[in-house]
Amino acid sequence: MLEVHRVTKSFPAAGGPVGVLADVSLTLEPGGRLAIMGPSGSGKSTLLAIMGGLEPPTSGRVTLDGIDPFSLDADGRAAFRNRRIGFVFQEHHLLGGCTALDNVVLPALASGPVDTALAVRAARLLDRVGLGGRSGHLPGELSGGERQRVAVARALLLSPRLVLADEPTGQLDARTGADVADLLVELVAETGGMLVAATHSEALAARVGTVRTLVSGRLQP
Ligand SMILES: Nc1ncnc2c1ncn2[C@@H]1O[C@H](COP(=O)(O)OP(=O)(O)OP(=O)(O)O)[C@@H](O)[C@H]1O
Ligand SMILES: [Mg+2]
Repeated sequence: MLEVHRVTKSFPAAGGPVGVLADVSLTLEPGGRLAIMGPSGSGKSTLLAIMGGLEPPTSGRVTLDGIDPFSLDADGRAAFRNRRIGFVFQEHHLLGGCTALDNVVLPALASGPVDTALAVRAARLLDRVGLGGRSGHLPGELSGGERQRVAVARALLLSPRLVLADEPTGQLDARTGADVADLLVELVAETGGMLVAATHSEALAARVGTVRTLVSGRLQP
């Protein structure tokens, strides 16, 4: 379960702190899915970064299965992110010099040695996203949609409890975006994890199901 309790966030600025999130609370049950929509600058990415333990809230707290990542030290927090959270960003952030398969497997190295079962799962995930025949290709040899599908497979490798997707289809055409969105929802459902997606895409939000809207850092009722 994901619990966001009265989270606020402000960033320091020359003229004093700038408030970005104001008293955001929400709960997501195990297996739950949520799309966060709202105008540019409304705080969607900031909220995802806080949920993922990348950015501390100014006040309030976030817990995933009862664990507050900001109660952990830096190493503990890194392990928390690596084991429990899968990130998919607008830009895939694949390693350009590594094959598609290596890109799926490499992040898992931070959690321990990659055994055969994990390597098999990585290959199977690449199959599932339609890239079984391209596992030896470098990101530069793949299309934008294909790279984003590699990023989805990478995020799902360790069956994270929570997948955070920030504009995962933002750079894709409508058709390709719909395919990636379908895969994301389907694969997260198979692992039993939760999904939170920040997006401007009505099509992605509809696939995710429940939609909440942020306006000027406030979650609308
Ligand atoms: N590190 C930072 N320092 C200062 N201000 C920041 C920082 N990160 C975000 N902001 C500000 O917080 C506000 C919300 O940004 P955020 O990226 O969360 O919006 P968003 O809803 O994801 O927008 P978009 O739809 O364009 O992706 C913006 O005004 C932004 O300038
Ligand atoms: Mg954003």
